[in-house]
Amino acid sequence: MEAIGLVRRFGEGETAVTAVAGVDLGFRRGEFVAVMGPSGSGKSTLMNLLAGLDTPTEGRVVVEGTDLSGLGDRQLTRLRRERVGFVFQAFNLMPALTAEQNVLLPLKLSGRRPDREFFDEIVRSLRLQDRLGHRPAELSGGQQQRVAIARALLARPAVVFADEPTGALDVSSGHEILGRLREAGTRLGQTVVMVTHDPVAATYADRVLLLSDGALHGTVERPTTRAVLAAMAGAEGA
Ligand SMILES: Nc1ncnc2c1ncn2[C@@H]1O[C@H](COP(=O)(O)OP(=O)(O)O)[C@@H](O)[C@H]1O
Ligand SMILES: [Mg+2]
Repeated sequence: MEAIGLVRRFGEGETAVTAVAGVDLGFRRGEFVAVMGPSGSGKSTLMNLLAGLDTPTEGRVVVEGTDLSGLGDRQLTRLRRERVGFVFQAFNLMPALTAEQNVLLPLKLSGRRPDREFFDEIVRSLRLQDRLGHRPAELSGGQQQRVAIARALLARPAVVFADEPTGALDVSSGHEILGRLREAGTRLGQTVVMVTHDPVAATYADRVLLLSDGALHGTVERPTTRAVLAAMAGAEGA
């Protein structure tokens, strides 16, 4: 996945806001990247652009060789369903469906048959085998988030986007989720892009990107908590 000269402005004239101000990025296949930065620095806007949920004012996004700017609405919808997975802080599970039905829903919507062996493998690795018949209300926050991750991984998307995936979880569930996201990269070759405010969570990533006022302000490779904290302090002072 690549972002080339990415700019996103909202509004016009006096009240115009440049949320993303010229970002160039390349993501390696299987890479786990954390995106950090102060509130309002453009993290969510950047994720939405990369995921094809929003259209850049300038520049373009290329996912596995496909330039998103060349796609129509239907093709974009299809790309989002088949090549991209999402994990949100609020889980976004369907309350009336069981865990299993939630996990299978995106494939069902795109008319694809689930790979049963892969389904079993994901469910086992996320320790959900005893929870498949439960509805979200009957699951803990950590279990609900694991269902959301299973749902994102099952379609074997090229890229998984996670916006504060551990924000609502206790520390040990959070670490487990981060471990699984890491594994998605190392074992399944999926690229993972995660927004986080937590410098410890960021150390699970291969690389941390720091945003400040919509621009890339720094990068930390093979991050340690200390290096992330230092880079964050730098970005805030920008
Ligand atoms: N739909 C929108 N309309 C107008 N301004 C927006 C919109 N979305 C985001 N912004 C502005 O763009 C900037 C970046 O926002 P955002 O990407 O949500 O930052 P972050 O996720 O880092 O907190 C902020 O100034 C925000 O107010
Ligand atoms: Mg945000």
